[in-house]
Amino acid sequence: MAIDYRHAIPNNVGLDDNRALQRALAHWQPHFLDWWREMGPSGSRNHEVYLRTAVAVDAEGWAKYGMVRMPEYRWGIFLADPVPDRRIGFGDSFGERTWQQVPGEHRANLRRLIVTQGDTEPASVEQQRLLGLTCPSLYDLRNLFQVNVEEGRHLWAMVYLLHAYFGRDGREEAEELLARHSGDLDKPRILRTFNEPIADWLSFFLFTYFTDRDGRYQLKCLAESAFDPLSRTCRFMLTEEAYHMFVGRTGITRIVKRTLEVMKALTSEDPAGIRDVGAIDLPTLQRYMNFWFSSSLDLFGTEISSNAATYFASGLKGRPDEAQFTDHVAFDERFVVEMPDTEGGVVSEAVPMRNAINEVTRTAYIADCNIGVRRWNRMIAEAGYDFRFTLPSPRFRRSVGLWADIDTDPQGRPVSAEEWTARHREWLPSPEDRAFVAALMQRVTEPGKIAGWLAPPEIGIDNLPANYEYVRLN
Ligand SMILES: [Fe+2]
Ligand SMILES: [Fe+2]
Repeated sequence: MAIDYRHAIPNNVGLDDNRALQRALAHWQPHFLDWWREMGPSGSRNHEVYLRTAVAVDAEGWAKYGMVRMPEYRWGIFLADPVPDRRIGFGDSFGERTWQQVPGEHRANLRRLIVTQGDTEPASVEQQRLLGLTCPSLYDLRNLFQVNVEEGRHLWAMVYLLHAYFGRDGREEAEELLARHSGDLDKPRILRTFNEPIADWLSFFLFTYFTDRDGRYQLKCLAESAFDPLSRTCRFMLTEEAYHMFVGRTGITRIVKRTLEVMKALTSEDPAGIRDVGAIDLPTLQRYMNFWFSSSLDLFGTEISSNAATYFASGLKGRPDEAQFTDHVAFDERFVVEMPDTEGGVVSEAVPMRNAINEVTRTAYIADCNIGVRRWNRMIAEAGYDFRFTLPSPRFRRSVGLWADIDTDPQGRPVSAEEWTARHREWLPSPEDRAFVAALMQRVTEPGKIAGWLAPPEIGIDNLPANYEYVRLN
């Protein structure tokens, strides 16, 4: 269905024909805009930004680009086209018709899934709201804002479902999504990672690499849902989400590239020397990677989960790319999960597949994270250095699940409290690391200029040159 931009709320869900929904959303829209002004990108109100806007929902040619004043961005409701005669792809009702309405018995669980997903979208905008003040280039500033407006749109996507299918409770939840704030002591966001400050651009690139990728896997699982409007919403969100991970992957690639250039020029790998010329040494990058990767792993939930089993059995939330599995009912399959034993070691146990869905998803996510790591290691090897990045063990620094609050080293070996205290600064960003990175964050806004700690982008946006004036800082 084509997107209607004449409507106050751009949409492809036939909003004109649904007065009640239109009224509900028209009531919420000014609250959203107030939230954007207060909690969205700081100081951006008069900026004109070269942004993409969705114009269709097919994968090819779905977006148009142009200069937009940020508060005038057209947030709207876009669902992927329906799949004719779509069937439930997993669980107890495998093969039955998908649902166009919410079945009463699944209402509470579906609402919880939608609210939890919806909460992460504005949270990340809040986490990133000050980054524009220290952008390393106009190109990067534009990318930050692109990610921010699309996270705002993802909030719209979830709010649409709440308003359209959950009546009064849904409307209340939609208000609450604007009332909780990242890092707020009284009303924090639901998930811990979305309350962590993203204080610098190194963290931003790692967040978009690791945490937006968690989002990708959550959306993949929800795109399998038997509740068809949720599936269609998530399928279109995945189209937008791919770019967020591009920002993360290329951002880290550009940092590594710059650091390798500096190492070569200095003929030294000494972190202090690299820092002296304003680049980020690879061990510091590894420590930041350890932080954001371990934080993002928690988002998948506990390894053995009866909630996940219920969501799977009832067709609410599946496994990523469910079509890759052969047994979609997964009633008597098992999955091997690592857990702590009673003597401070590790044991493996085969548990029922349905209870291990979170771990199945986390495992697929980790494999995906490793693709970028291999690419960066290839760059380092080609430059002639022995340093290699490694993602820490999924047992490292967890605060959710079987490994929560068990101290391990990055290889996942349980360590004593003394060893943790003595060594955690080798493994995670120290206050000195954070101060060093913070000092690097100097705003660069001349078109074509770039901060010294990362290489310029290889290509620009939408076939424009990399030095294009992507943001007019009015
Ligand atoms: Fe998102
Ligand atoms: Fe995202």
